Amino acid sequence: MRLLVLSDLHVDYPQNMQRARSIADAFLREDAEALVIAGDVSHKPDQIEAALRLFDGFGGPRLFVPGNHDVWVVRGPPEDSWQKLDLVDDVCRRSGFHNLERRNATVGPFTFVGTMGWYDYSFASPALALREQDYARKTWHDLTYMDAKYAKWGEPDADVAAWFTAAVRKRLHAAEGPVVFVSHHVPLEELVLRRGHASWDFFNAYMGSRELEHVVRTAGVSRFVFGHTHRPVTFIGPQRFVINNPLGYPREALNPVRTSFDVT
Ligand SMILES: [Fe+2]
Ligand SMILES: [Fe+2]
Repeated sequence: MRLLVLSDLHVDYPQNMQRARSIADAFLREDAEALVIAGDVSHKPDQIEAALRLFDGFGGPRLFVPGNHDVWVVRGPPEDSWQKLDLVDDVCRRSGFHNLERRNATVGPFTFVGTMGWYDYSFASPALALREQDYARKTWHDLTYMDAKYAKWGEPDADVAAWFTAAVRKRLHAAEGPVVFVSHHVPLEELVLRRGHASWDFFNAYMGSRELEHVVRTAGVSRFVFGHTHRPVTFIGPQRFVINNPLGYPREALNPVRTSFDVT
């Protein structure tokens, strides 16, 4: 089955809205069965809607999971990221997208199961040996992870991660047939890049969660679509399908690897 995959559109940068438009045009020319957007479209709901609407002309199922930027609360309302999650769900519905955070989607022989996922610092670099409270503060020396300011859950990240993991675990159990697992955060620790310098590896802590990895491994998942890292990954083998196809920030000058991927 042919899939269109894209993540990290970050269309609040005007250049990115432009780039997203030309990618959408290319997508619409593909003969594909489903489209997956793996989060980080924008923190502004009207911009999320405008971006999702670029894919209006795609005839197959359009699937979505939110990213951390999509649930940012830059100024209220809404007041917290839980409410923002609901608001993003409304945007999806209005834009003809199926929010995998709420329910599975069956497309051909596959069940798409998805979640934004969250992090609990379990992917932190062992070499850095920082304390839990350093990661919880999301600031260390001159480094700041911006979720510190805008992701407003009102509870510790570990509890948030556990909530998303528990919810998607139920959806995985309910899935029939082969699963394509879609997440915004990184589903497997081996996909976290450790560069060996603190200015990069500090952010490893915010990539994902071992608890979620345990759940997907226990469920025997071998097909993954994710985002968040802004680092393209294309691994398609007989036992593995792992795709990250980000647009990324303008300064990163990433180009999505390609438009479509065949999943078997
Ligand atoms: Fe992103
Ligand atoms: Fe992200």
